Amino acid sequence: MKVLVIGGGGREHALVWKLSQSKNIDSIFCIPGNGGISDMADCVEMDIHNIEGLTGFSKKEGIGLVIVGPESPLATGIVDVFEKEGIPIFGPRKNGALIETSKIFAKELMDKYKIPTASFKTFYKYDDAQAYLNTIQPPFVIKADGLCAGKGAYVIQERQDSEHVLKELMVNLIHGDAGRRVIIENFLPGVEASYLVFTDGKTVMPMLPSQDHKPLLDNDKGPNTGGMGAYTPIPFINESMEKEIDTHIMSTTINAMNDQGIVYKGVLYGGLMITEGKPYVIEFNARLGDPETQPIFFIMENDILPVLLACVEGTLNDKEGMKWKSGVSVCVVVASKGYPDKPEKGKVIKGLENLKNEKDIMVFHAGTKKIGNDYYTSGGRVLGVTAMGKTYGDAIRKVYEAVSCIEFEGMYYRKDIGKKALDTA
Ligand code: AMP
Ligand code: GLY
Repeated sequence: MKVLVIGGGGREHALVWKLSQSKNIDSIFCIPGNGGISDMADCVEMDIHNIEGLTGFSKKEGIGLVIVGPESPLATGIVDVFEKEGIPIFGPRKNGALIETSKIFAKELMDKYKIPTASFKTFYKYDDAQAYLNTIQPPFVIKADGLCAGKGAYVIQERQDSEHVLKELMVNLIHGDAGRRVIIENFLPGVEASYLVFTDGKTVMPMLPSQDHKPLLDNDKGPNTGGMGAYTPIPFINESMEKEIDTHIMSTTINAMNDQGIVYKGVLYGGLMITEGKPYVIEFNARLGDPETQPIFFIMENDILPVLLACVEGTLNDKEGMKWKSGVSVCVVVASKGYPDKPEKGKVIKGLENLKNEKDIMVFHAGTKKIGNDYYTSGGRVLGVTAMGKTYGDAIRKVYEAVSCIEFEGMYYRKDIGKKALDTA
């Protein structure tokens, strides 16, 4: 079978890498891909929102399965179009992607079906939201309704900040239409977890729970980013909590969508807060997480293709659960100077050849370009250096040893990825 992966980040490199080990795949295409992906797939330059171009390409090449990485094509309904054209595609339709593209939709769904989440109020008018601010005490969280590339949630610690945030969102429209409607919700203290499941719209098949590190700087300081590193599994979720999450959060959500007339297929990503030993949903995403996919796929034992096909075909119930290698997998994101605001580009990356044949190390590429035999930086998050080890300590040591082999001008990475697990385990 020929497969096409849409996207060009570390998540897509991990997908392509995993697919490249699949028995039943003859060739892999990636649009647009990146420097590392071009070593294992045919990369094609095309706008990932050019849906006509993508369907035309898929028909011409006889693609048997398309896998969508990022949220934006899902938000515009890429799956609906491919389904109409009869091309198998992995991901939710536009109405399913609403769970990520509209926080109000997600919160109202959770409210209606009693899925645990922070209590909240929805505002369509600035004056109403501002009046509400006078009635509550920090900490609380103000969130834009729409997609903001991970920058639409503001944790308010000081009252005076809230007025400013609200004005920026609803009046100055710093995130465009995404901020015209907002949610103001209770702050939940605790530890965060990313809980991803495959689903065919009926059955859920969980992946190993993982933890992202969203802030730019060590000890969770600085601005939020797409994610500076992740590891899996995590010590904060035991088997009984996994069952509780599968039943009361993930399956309940899929059933709730069905009840609303939405068949949700693909990956459902629960961004959870574990507060006093109980899991609550902070947000849902309609896709694989990045960087989470990198450590998760690195430690995955299964052939991924049958799982993806079963989600599309609605036969996940017939499949055995996921299998995982034993141990721990850790990914450290190496970013460009200036990320997340104005990342530098065009710097030559040195040292990758030293890590090519290491069994427990994989360097997934994100913002890279290959020119001749050299790789250059071409984005904010550049590499996801990923390592497996027997213990948290072992995996963390290996991953940072690997990072120390790599060099490019202005490279930046967090030094404390996995530290929370190390402190807890
Ligand atoms: P979101 O875009 O909704 O995932 O929020 C981004 C980040 O803001 C999350 O990863 C949390 O660290 C934080 N956050 C969002 N909502 C809450 C909440 N209700 N309580 C505590 N922290 C939150
Ligand atoms: N790592 C966070 C996300 O994929 O949304």
